[in-house]
Amino acid sequence: MRPRYLKGLLCGSLLLSLLPLWYLLLTTGDAPKRWQLSSQFPVGSAPRGVDFPSLFASFPPAPRCEPGQLLLILVTSAPGNSEPRQVIRSTWAAREGPAPPQWQAVFLVGQTADAGAAREIQREQQAFGDLLVGNYLDAYRNLTLKVMHGLKWAAERCRPRYVLKTDDDCFVNTAWLPAFLQEHNRVRAGLYAGSLFSREKRQVIREPSSKWYVSRQDYRPEEYPPYASGIGYLLSLDAAQRLLGAAERVRPIPVEDAYVGILAEEAGIRVQASARFAKHNVRWQVCNYRYLLVIHHLSPREQAAAKRSMLQARRACQDSLEVTRWK
Ligand SMILES: *[C@@H]1O[C@H](CO)[C@@H](O)[C@H](O)[C@H]1NC(C)=O
Repeated sequence: MRPRYLKGLLCGSLLLSLLPLWYLLLTTGDAPKRWQLSSQFPVGSAPRGVDFPSLFASFPPAPRCEPGQLLLILVTSAPGNSEPRQVIRSTWAAREGPAPPQWQAVFLVGQTADAGAAREIQREQQAFGDLLVGNYLDAYRNLTLKVMHGLKWAAERCRPRYVLKTDDDCFVNTAWLPAFLQEHNRVRAGLYAGSLFSREKRQVIREPSSKWYVSRQDYRPEEYPPYASGIGYLLSLDAAQRLLGAAERVRPIPVEDAYVGILAEEAGIRVQASARFAKHNVRWQVCNYRYLLVIHHLSPREQAAAKRSMLQARRACQDSLEVTRWK
């Protein structure tokens, strides 16, 4: 054999013999995460996931919901945010036309220590019937409990085909979203769609003064799995149910949208990236309202302008091609 071939042969066999080592490195790289999830429950101890029954309040009564409707929109709100709620009721959540509604918006609020504010919430619920009041103290660090309560209520009492989670400083394109889901969406099962974060933005924040602080006891990895921003994410009912099942086992962290990403990973659901969820409220043109489904960061005045654009887009942008995909 010529020395050149011999060298090649040697190199090749060296590489081959390294393969098991590679494999070992790759698989053990994943191991701490798995270990972290299952090690949360030493044998015989109770699960430390979300305690769902504790989140339900008996008063005031929950909103009525039509079972089996197309879309339920859960809007996180704070007890004192009656103005944004009122603006939403008169803009994107207002019913247009006589057609039977295919969707419904419900505001998620928690308990407040302020007796006056609590009475206001009861009055508001009596007047509008669109508040789901949970049995947890309303605080930013309890946002995860708020959303888990809303999703559980939605999945058990309303059972819509889809759930959208959004916030009360967001605009929802109610002129297009229901039709898009009905006519164009091809992902009928396991759907979890929204605007994703880059890898750098998925680093777990270990700075105790941050409002997104998460301790290593609560979540061990240094990076969250891919997840959709809390400004808006869409779930099919089966995906919501699978996430809720995982939430019984996985310890909650205060970062609500990252927690949903952790649950999705645990439940084997892949997040669908979609540019139709806008994290920023830039100067969107009327015809952008044929495409965008959720826009973040609107003042009350901007909500009214966004609604006008949404309604104009129906007629004004008929010539622009309709995008029928999530991207
Ligand atoms: C969250 O709600 C629970 C239940 O009401 C309460 O005990 C806890 O103090 C709240 N957390 C925060 C950060 O307010």
